[in-house]
Amino acid sequence: MRSSGRHFLQLPGPTNVPLPVLLAIAQPTIDHRGPEFPALTFSVLEGMKTIFGTAADVVIYPASGTGAWEAALVNALSPGDLVLMAETGHFSTLWKSMATRLGLVVEFLPGNWRRGADLSAIEARLSEDRSHKIKAVAVVHNETSTGAVSSIGGVRRALDSANHPALLMVDTISSLASIDYRHDEWQVDITVGGSQKGLMLPPGLSFNAVSDKARKAARSARLPRVFWDWEDMISLNSKGYFPYTPATNMLQGLKVALEMLQEEGLPAVFSRHDRAAEATRACVGHWGLEVWCAAPSDYSSSLTAVQMPEGCSADALRSLILSQSSVSLGNGLGRLADQVFRIGHLGDFNDATTLATLAAVERGLLSAAIPIQAGGVGAAIASLSGQDVSAIAAE
Ligand SMILES: Cc1ncc(COP(=O)(O)O)c(C=O)c1O
Repeated sequence: MRSSGRHFLQLPGPTNVPLPVLLAIAQPTIDHRGPEFPALTFSVLEGMKTIFGTAADVVIYPASGTGAWEAALVNALSPGDLVLMAETGHFSTLWKSMATRLGLVVEFLPGNWRRGADLSAIEARLSEDRSHKIKAVAVVHNETSTGAVSSIGGVRRALDSANHPALLMVDTISSLASIDYRHDEWQVDITVGGSQKGLMLPPGLSFNAVSDKARKAARSARLPRVFWDWEDMISLNSKGYFPYTPATNMLQGLKVALEMLQEEGLPAVFSRHDRAAEATRACVGHWGLEVWCAAPSDYSSSLTAVQMPEGCSADALRSLILSQSSVSLGNGLGRLADQVFRIGHLGDFNDATTLATLAAVERGLLSAAIPIQAGGVGAAIASLSGQDVSAIAAE
């Protein structure tokens, strides 16, 4: 059945794809071995370097983010290598399981899923490892299942103060082009990214930014790899081509998405995300519900996970909001199933998108007779207008 008006895809990815990007993807497919292709390749590789904050190599795969996770592990490591991973939520758990299935040995530093990675635990474990058995430290920058951010600068400081040479691998799938990120400054060795979130593209591309140190490690790393091999990519990319058929039309879309991000300017993009997140938290606080992330220092600017009151189903609420207002929200993942809903505020959106989304959520909460204080959208408006949110709450 036709539903009028536009659908609001307010998941923490995939996100709404802006029209100029859709139009670029809809252009005729060009010859990936033809004379026009190198210009496209060079342009998207250069653009992605800016997004990652790096002068190092960037590799683009025709794959979802999971592929780029695998690429990071199989290029840099050998069977039986010890990897230190921080438990931050569902996605860190999936990455850990992948590493184990690939034949790596994972030490998973426990976390309660309400905070970013525990920096002092990372530092303590690295300091203890005097014989440098740990070959890599892997952290999810923005844990999409919980809405908690880990300090990657802090992880770098932990490695440095333990004087530890392990490679640093970071998943930025739901933070890239939404939350400040600095591959070179934080001396990250492998950054993993995906197309379907801050980059405003559909799912289908993923990325590795690769430091010289990681590239050197790959020369002696022995996990089997073919499709994911960095060297095959980097050597052909230098001529403007790919070792196999790239996702040509997605690259056409990426070129335009990068131009749009450049035109807005990354600092403005980050502050737009910060403002939407703050407004969302003001609204949730006014409702009297709890933001799932337990520490303000770790609040995510790309999504907010909201805890349902005891005995209320998050999935029933999401399905009500979808049918009432045509707004899609993220579900609770893994052990958070049905306990939280996740509001995505990343990618292509503006203040009106944020307010309309929050209004639809408030309407759903009220219709489902969830006990809340109505008027949260007023708190969001106050927050976006730089007014005193507590004055609204007191009214
Ligand atoms: C932080 C994070 N890592 C990894 C993934 C997996 O990526 P994909 O589903 O694109 O394979 C996701 C997906 O949402 C994610 O949010």
